[in-house]
Amino acid sequence: MCSPLLIEDCTINDMKSKDRKNRKLWGGRFKDASSDVTERISASIHFDSRLYDQDIRGSIAHARMLNRIGILSDDELRSIVDGLHQIRREIEEGVFEFSSSLEDIHMNIEARLTERIGEIGRKLHTARSRNDQISLDLRMYIREQLDRIGVLLRNLISLLLDLAEVHSDVVMPGYTHLQIAQPVRFSHYLLAHAWALQRDYKRLQFFKKTSNLLPLGSGALAGVNYDTDRDFLKKELGFDDLIHNSMDAVSDRDFVLDSLYFSSVLGMHLSRFCEDIVLWSSSEFGFLELSDRVTTGSSIMPQKKNPDIAELIRGKTGRLYGNLVSLLTTLKGLPLTYNRDLQEDKEPLFDSVDTVIVALEGIYEILSTMRINSEAMEAAVFKNYSTATDIADYLSKRGIPFREAHEITGSIVRHCEEKGVDFFNIPVSELKKFSSHFDDDAVEFLNPKTSTERKLSEGGTSKSSVEKQIAMLRASLGEMG
Ligand code: ARG
Repeated sequence: MCSPLLIEDCTINDMKSKDRKNRKLWGGRFKDASSDVTERISASIHFDSRLYDQDIRGSIAHARMLNRIGILSDDELRSIVDGLHQIRREIEEGVFEFSSSLEDIHMNIEARLTERIGEIGRKLHTARSRNDQISLDLRMYIREQLDRIGVLLRNLISLLLDLAEVHSDVVMPGYTHLQIAQPVRFSHYLLAHAWALQRDYKRLQFFKKTSNLLPLGSGALAGVNYDTDRDFLKKELGFDDLIHNSMDAVSDRDFVLDSLYFSSVLGMHLSRFCEDIVLWSSSEFGFLELSDRVTTGSSIMPQKKNPDIAELIRGKTGRLYGNLVSLLTTLKGLPLTYNRDLQEDKEPLFDSVDTVIVALEGIYEILSTMRINSEAMEAAVFKNYSTATDIADYLSKRGIPFREAHEITGSIVRHCEEKGVDFFNIPVSELKKFSSHFDDDAVEFLNPKTSTERKLSEGGTSKSSVEKQIAMLRASLGEMG
């Protein structure tokens, strides 16, 4: 039986499966075994096992490159590639035994490879270090997850455009300070979110580029003592460019931060959307009715239908910010180059990826199943003097300086408030007491339902503006592929 640590003392035939769990691939210079707590702190396999596919694809490309530069024979390459494919199958079928004393996904796979194909497996790590290997795996993982998130983002934007089209004529109160401010089209509101998500999509594309650079071939930090073909690796693995400094390649995690920042901003957008959904589905507003599919009941109050999914999407945003700050803090004091602290990048990243995906799926479900109560929205615009600005503009367009028009309208509002007069139905004869500039046509300017069409400016809430926005966003969706 070979010593658990001294792999060099073992012949391949000694390597029983249970030994594999205890063997360190770096054990040559060690006499004593790691302590239990060391293994517990050190192991990352319980979370980095999700990188198995990237690790295997990276290793296959690396093996092909080693074959091209004469380090692996054709037979050796075939054997390694077959072995790695079999390991992928074992993992996907759930029969692979992960071992925490082998620390991470790289060493679990490599040890199993050697177990399966023998000594040749131990050639795979030539001209490579786990330091460039982990950066490679993470970069591949990020670009693939960003693609997945991109599809969800596109679907959500497309849903918002459909909803905006269907409800383009519904008028509702627009809010500032959560006070009714001016009438807007519900479609204009939905498009405001669509634009924000379109910018998130652009950020995603940009950050995909910052990740899609090849670190492999950098070795531990200084480069490797082999004439590695990094351009071959770049093409084989679909990277845009090489990282041209090996110390930078193994030490930086700015590309992980990019994804965490992207997730934070996207989460913030979704959270604000959810806040409106929570408010608007309350009986006080009654603008939306959420479906049973995305609401939950109370264990004590039988009548309750709570917007938990919207609340949870809002709540999970805190975790996204935490993940960003957590990694920023981990990185700030690290001397160049690799330090084991960098292993702490994965849990925040994985958590943010999972959170953003579930949040995008959740909000899609909420929006695609909710009922829109347009009557309640349209009734609410007849509150809080929502067309007061239209009246001030009416006067100002008749030559009264805007500040004075504002003042006059303010005194009409005060009069209505004090006397309990309905602002929206105030007779013109009454208006004339405040200014001789009022005419019969002022009645129309009081009407919140037509207020949206008085918004002439580009990007305002008029029908033509909403239609233009939908067309622009649809074109942009087309470009998103
Ligand atoms: N599990 C490690 C990580 O996630 C891989 C690199 C380990 N390198 C080392 N020199 N210990 O960062």
